[in-house]
Amino acid sequence: MRMVDLIHKKRNGGELTAAEIQTIIDGYCRGDIPDYQMSAWAMAVYFQGMTPVETANLTLAIAESGDTVDLSQIPGVKADKHSTGGVGDKTTLILGPIVAAAGIPVAKMSGRGLGHTGGTIDKLESIAGFRTELTQEQFFRQVNEIGLAVIGQSGNLTPADKKLYALRDVTATVESIPLIASSVMSKKIAAGADAIVLDVKTGSGAFMKTVEQSEELAHAMVEIGTEVGRNTAAVISDMDQPLGFAVGNALEVAEAVATLQGKGPEDLTELCVELAAHMTVLAGKAADIYEAKKLVRELLASGAALAKFRQFVAAQGGDDAFVDDLRRLPQAEYVFAAKSPAEGYIGAIDAEELGIAAMMLGAGRATKDDTIDHAVGIVLNLKVGDRVAAGEALARVHAAAPESEPAVRQALERLLGAFTITPEPPKLRPLVLSVVT
Ligand code: URA
Repeated sequence: MRMVDLIHKKRNGGELTAAEIQTIIDGYCRGDIPDYQMSAWAMAVYFQGMTPVETANLTLAIAESGDTVDLSQIPGVKADKHSTGGVGDKTTLILGPIVAAAGIPVAKMSGRGLGHTGGTIDKLESIAGFRTELTQEQFFRQVNEIGLAVIGQSGNLTPADKKLYALRDVTATVESIPLIASSVMSKKIAAGADAIVLDVKTGSGAFMKTVEQSEELAHAMVEIGTEVGRNTAAVISDMDQPLGFAVGNALEVAEAVATLQGKGPEDLTELCVELAAHMTVLAGKAADIYEAKKLVRELLASGAALAKFRQFVAAQGGDDAFVDDLRRLPQAEYVFAAKSPAEGYIGAIDAEELGIAAMMLGAGRATKDDTIDHAVGIVLNLKVGDRVAAGEALARVHAAAPESEPAVRQALERLLGAFTITPEPPKLRPLVLSVVT
């Protein structure tokens, strides 16, 4: 099978067989298929798309390109959640403990942040002593003992995805539904969970800018999950503004604790309840979404989810005393207000721009070798739809240097540029836009 013939077949809209897809992925991983041919193939997929069967076969080929995690040593239906990438998205820190408190094992591998989006592992490393690297034995033992463990990606999971994603990034082929769907689902399948809830972000801060595109991606991923025998559901949620108020690692951990204490932002709480409830239904611990939401709210209100969070932090070596005194988290040396240049309503907050501003302060990485400052970031004062006076604080900036420093000033300008102030109140849309099962 020559690669040129497979590119030709896809370019002309043909359907590739499972064996042909396997040949492409194996050949690319081995280095027999050069980047230029793989780029041409990815572009052919971009324009011609893939059938659901092709997409499922591509997903399996990528999932099996490296190590796969076998969670069979952990009894029960293991649940996982994946977000397609957001700003201020600290949901894993909240729904992991909720779901574990419901008796559902969560053995989760998470990533680090890159670009304008943050990563759960960086957030957890804001907690003094917290270890994100465990041996497989420690990982399984912890899940069996307390129901929850979150570690950084270890081993050689989905090497084909790493190589192909890097290539897509520089060949304008990222925004292809079958390529995104297979990339996301291959990682989830390789990580071993039985029940998968996907949080597909839509809006200015997301890959998918419209609800229609997001629904298409959600359907493709749910179809793959179902095809390979994993219970899968997708929630389409708004990313037209950051989730919650805090953007930045320690600041987000503090907001996650507040949410577990029942004092969190409304939007963040709502999304966590929604996602945790779907995980509960898929894992068979509730008959329907209404019963699941009731259970999730009870676990929050009773303090059971917060107690599980403390247990989880302590089990991974973290100092859980910070829960009672958030000043034990890393604190930025300089905190100042970002003031509104005009009066009116907050019409929009460009989540991607705000994420970039936080990254410029040091909260994120421009390249994967950058180090991050856990203390810095942005805490919004106002959200879309709120009224604002000229000179009122839109947000508070937590920085490592004073406002007069050029790098901090540039980040502040970027932050202010993320806000649109309008004379009339904007039309608000719900946070959860649709659910695909
Ligand atoms: N996230 C992924 O993991 N893969 C993609 O292709 C896009 C977003």
